[in-house]
Amino acid sequence: MMRSFKNRDIVSIRSFSPEELVYVIETAKMIKEDRLKKQAAYAHVLEGETIGIAFFEPSTRTRLSFVCAAQALGAHALSFSSTEGTSLLKGESFRHTLQMLSGYQCSLLVVRDSRDGAAQYAADVLDIPVVNGGDGKHEHPTQTMLDLLTIRELFGRLDHLTIGFAGDLKYGRTVRSLQAALQHFPGISFRYISPPQLKPPAEELAALERAHIPYKVSENYESTLPDIDILYVTRIQEERFPDKQEYEKVARSLQLTPDLLLSYAKPSMRILHPLPINSLKFPEIHPAVDDVLVPGTREKYARYIEQAANGLSIRMALLCLLAGKLGTEIREPYELPNYEKKTTLEPVNVTETKQEANRVLGYIENGTVIDHLQPDALFKVIDLLALPRDKLVILGKNFESKKALHGKKGVLKIVDYSPTPNQLNKIAVLSPYATVSYIKNGQVVEKGRVMLPLRIENIMECSNPNCISRTEQKEYAPSVFYTLDTVQRIFQCHYCDTTISEDAVRLR
Ligand code: CP
Repeated sequence: MMRSFKNRDIVSIRSFSPEELVYVIETAKMIKEDRLKKQAAYAHVLEGETIGIAFFEPSTRTRLSFVCAAQALGAHALSFSSTEGTSLLKGESFRHTLQMLSGYQCSLLVVRDSRDGAAQYAADVLDIPVVNGGDGKHEHPTQTMLDLLTIRELFGRLDHLTIGFAGDLKYGRTVRSLQAALQHFPGISFRYISPPQLKPPAEELAALERAHIPYKVSENYESTLPDIDILYVTRIQEERFPDKQEYEKVARSLQLTPDLLLSYAKPSMRILHPLPINSLKFPEIHPAVDDVLVPGTREKYARYIEQAANGLSIRMALLCLLAGKLGTEIREPYELPNYEKKTTLEPVNVTETKQEANRVLGYIENGTVIDHLQPDALFKVIDLLALPRDKLVILGKNFESKKALHGKKGVLKIVDYSPTPNQLNKIAVLSPYATVSYIKNGQVVEKGRVMLPLRIENIMECSNPNCISRTEQKEYAPSVFYTLDTVQRIFQCHYCDTTISEDAVRLR
């Protein structure tokens, strides 16, 4: 399948193939060169359009570079930079605020919010393309694109590089997105430098191992700098710490100084940072590093100011590509899983013996038998399906069964009742491989085994308390999970990508 950039949402860097990423940065480079020559070939490309820019969290670079990009293309930017001065302070929801902005004929909306998955939620509720300007600790895809452009300008390539990520590797979203993008390119390896409390999440390190990407974790620069081609430093994200005392413990744990740089770094190493650097408390990069020259040259190690400037051409390129004013179609890298809901009953042949099976454990004339339930799931199924208790004729929790996982099973019989497809999905989440038999006139007329659907809605709760779908976030975003592994029962949140395994499943 071929796909174009026109009208796409940019929620996660993971939805871009390496060819698409290279195409975006080459388009940005072309625009940058045009502007350097003052040719202004793009000055009217979006004339008459309105670009919505809704930032519910502070920003200098991302918001202003989008405003500047819209204006440089002839569009008008409709922008706000915090909840201050908006009706959010009167309790208006994120959803209504965005829908209302979209109604002012915005051709697309750039959104930033402190909650993980907010951009995906915005994309779900709006008909116009949504660009993620940073959502909690989840992702910052357009930052990654400008990082890639900068790396390519500095090194002439995106492959065969060792990238050191330093600082807050737990709550930072820029590292998460950049390392996801760089994994596509051959010969990439990672070094992580952080206090132990801010190490990358274990699930991300496990994913690197599965993908055979070499990495090392360290707590200091001395042992790591000599290997590194690009050092990507990040600020400790004070605002994302649930406990401020925990922040204070790590706030002064790591600082890149001129001394460290000149003692341990390769002369070819360059320093990037998504910015801002925290100059108020304890700068993660000592201010003197800005001007340190590579010995014997006039070249600086620190390149974060040029890096930030690349935000303008990347965002101009994206606005043109999403509007369909520039761009081509690029082959999709792989077949995307079909997450459409499917029937979740795998048919089981109803033999004559099975037709009579209704007679075992009590007789019902018409209704449903739910059999081979995991014993612990039995009462949860009754509650979750809100089964009418006056119609339950038998309820056994610990029947002996050779076929059951631990030799025991639960059985339910319900009179005059057939589960809906959504209820079958719920049974599958709670007790995969349970069987459902439909009874008519005392006989089993149809039988099937419940199978986990690939897309599961409104059943499970995300384990990430900062996910937009959590009830305490008050957005009432429906919970949606994808089944990554039907046997091990591993699920991934649609909004924030958190994966949960069967023992961590919490029902709504
Ligand atoms: N890099 C970045 O996202 O900066 P701002 O927070 O200033 O937008």
